[in-house]
Amino acid sequence: MPEVKLEAWLEETRQFAPSPAFAADANAQPGIYEAAISDPAAWWRTQAYRLVWDQPPTQTLEWDSPNARWFGDGTLNASVNCVDRHVAAGRGDKVAFHWVADAEGDERTITYRDLLSMVSQTAHALTELGVQKGDRVAVYMPMIPEAVVAMLAIVRVGAAHSVVFGGFSADALASRINDSDCRFVVTADGAFRRGSISPLKPAVDEALASCPGVKSVLVVRRTGAEVGWVDGRDHWWHDVVERQSTTHLPEFFEAEHLLFLMYTSGTTGTPKGIYHTTAGYLVGAATTYFNVLDAKPESDVSWTAADIGWITGHSYIVYGPLINGMTQVLYEGLPDSGGQDRWWRIIEKYGVTVLYTAPTTIRMLMKWGEDIPRAHDLGSLRLLGTVGEPINPEAWMWYREHVGGNRCPIVDTWWQTETGTMMIAPLPGITATKPGAAMRALPGIGVDIVDNDGNSVGNGEAGYLVLTAPWPSMARGIYGDPERFRSTYWSRFPGRYFAGDGAKRDENGDIWLLGRIDDVMNISGHRLSTTEVEHSLVGHPAVAEAAVVGASDELTGQAIVAFVTLKQSALVDGDDQTELIESLRRHVATTISPIAKPRQIILTPELPKTRSGKIMRRLLLDVAEHRSLGDVTTLTDPTVVNMIATLMTSHSANDD
Ligand code: PRX
Repeated sequence: MPEVKLEAWLEETRQFAPSPAFAADANAQPGIYEAAISDPAAWWRTQAYRLVWDQPPTQTLEWDSPNARWFGDGTLNASVNCVDRHVAAGRGDKVAFHWVADAEGDERTITYRDLLSMVSQTAHALTELGVQKGDRVAVYMPMIPEAVVAMLAIVRVGAAHSVVFGGFSADALASRINDSDCRFVVTADGAFRRGSISPLKPAVDEALASCPGVKSVLVVRRTGAEVGWVDGRDHWWHDVVERQSTTHLPEFFEAEHLLFLMYTSGTTGTPKGIYHTTAGYLVGAATTYFNVLDAKPESDVSWTAADIGWITGHSYIVYGPLINGMTQVLYEGLPDSGGQDRWWRIIEKYGVTVLYTAPTTIRMLMKWGEDIPRAHDLGSLRLLGTVGEPINPEAWMWYREHVGGNRCPIVDTWWQTETGTMMIAPLPGITATKPGAAMRALPGIGVDIVDNDGNSVGNGEAGYLVLTAPWPSMARGIYGDPERFRSTYWSRFPGRYFAGDGAKRDENGDIWLLGRIDDVMNISGHRLSTTEVEHSLVGHPAVAEAAVVGASDELTGQAIVAFVTLKQSALVDGDDQTELIESLRRHVATTISPIAKPRQIILTPELPKTRSGKIMRRLLLDVAEHRSLGDVTTLTDPTVVNMIATLMTSHSANDD
């Protein structure tokens, strides 16, 4: 990697103008913002015609904060919108999914007609097992086509899915099943991860020991591993689904019918079941997929490299792309299943045009070095997206240069499980982009950045991100806890949605996300974002990844402790390590301010991450403050944090 200074990049590449070639053909055309701003509800009413309805809505919005009803008198079926409509329109032979297994050479092609047959059979099977309109069904699956099929079949019969990421433990699964009183579970015997089997059915069995309400479990045979069996409760997919009719007459449901629950962590310990309803959510998913990921169903091969166990998989693998009739890659494995070049081989083989992934993955790919993507033809790519956390400018530039060949626009999309779909992002072809900035509110979305009293802050000032008006895909609640919904999101600034993120507008009014409010530090009375310091550290040529926490400090209130992984090419030890730490501290002081200079930098081979790839700053804070460690069960590798604690005690503070 050439030695390029972050500041120099920002200077040179402060802004990328929309590419005229992209703009000419982009779905989102100039005028879109103005149309939406002048009358957002009317604009959303127009977007509702992206869906096929049984009873088209005559109403748009009823709003009594925090309760919203969108398109209230419409009726529709979500799975018809994703599948039947395309077959009915003569596109049954179009590929819906190129499924790529963890193991090399194991691939399946599924057309929209295949998908309709599979969803229909599964809908019949669910009905046979007793699933009814209004039930909740837990889905605990690997990334296989049956996972998508199960979701669509569940909503086809008017039930709601609650997908639990396959990496969660039995306890986590049990608490989610019980919280929403799921009576059915769809799972597989296991999943493949880098060639080895991770069991799923055994975790379900363990979970169900404390879930007496569950009546039936439908199990896909994926790995062939021996699994325990409870007669009468457990059913093999191939026994129950494959003998069913491939045609299924759908029912239609009300616009505000519960579509799914998605559990997510909040500031308190218990995960909350975020409640999404049918029509508004689908309108949001379809519209944002069309405009931001520039859906071109005739020519695109899209790849949202996320797990269906998270909201990104729901909105941008299942609902958004399928409503738009896209051809997608669905990949079961890890980025390095079968080698660190696996992603690039998949892109090359299928001619992937749109790639949407998380900054943490980009940084991992970056750590492996640009020689790996360089050895592949990535010329089919035309648009790149990121989601999930603030992207540091260095990763953004690497993505642009080494993946996008400096020709693909990058859409940095800010949103949350609770928002359902993208809220802040550039529109490719219209909005200029800046490395690290999510830029501006999407059409139909109202955003503001406010101070403690709810007043808008000026450009250049950090504040709380709020959404100022209801939007179709907004969460309708927290399952079983309307009060928590109101108090978490709608009471801090009444009538406005409190996102829990910090943000600021730059001198041009473009929006930069600063991370969760809980990660904002106060150093000697100066507010600094952990993200800002991390950006700076990652901007140093030696650094691959960095996590920063504000540890309590007698003198300054909080002081910065940074945990840093180095690029393979920059690994050093002994005196060289001390020197490198000093140069990193100086680097932060010069790129941000001497106030931001970390008190201590710990060089570590790895950072503790959850199975969804998020760095566990809470645990790092425990380490930094020499406390006993909290819950480490959600980590991919719980030993990492102990190793860091040992490193921490063997390093003294790098004080001046
Ligand atoms: O802090 C923001 C961060 O992720 C949070 C939402 O997490 P979750 O509900 O798991 O959804 C992730 C996928 C949508 C937000 O509160 N976040 C998400 N996208 C971005 C982001 N932070 C900065 N930039 C983003 N593009």
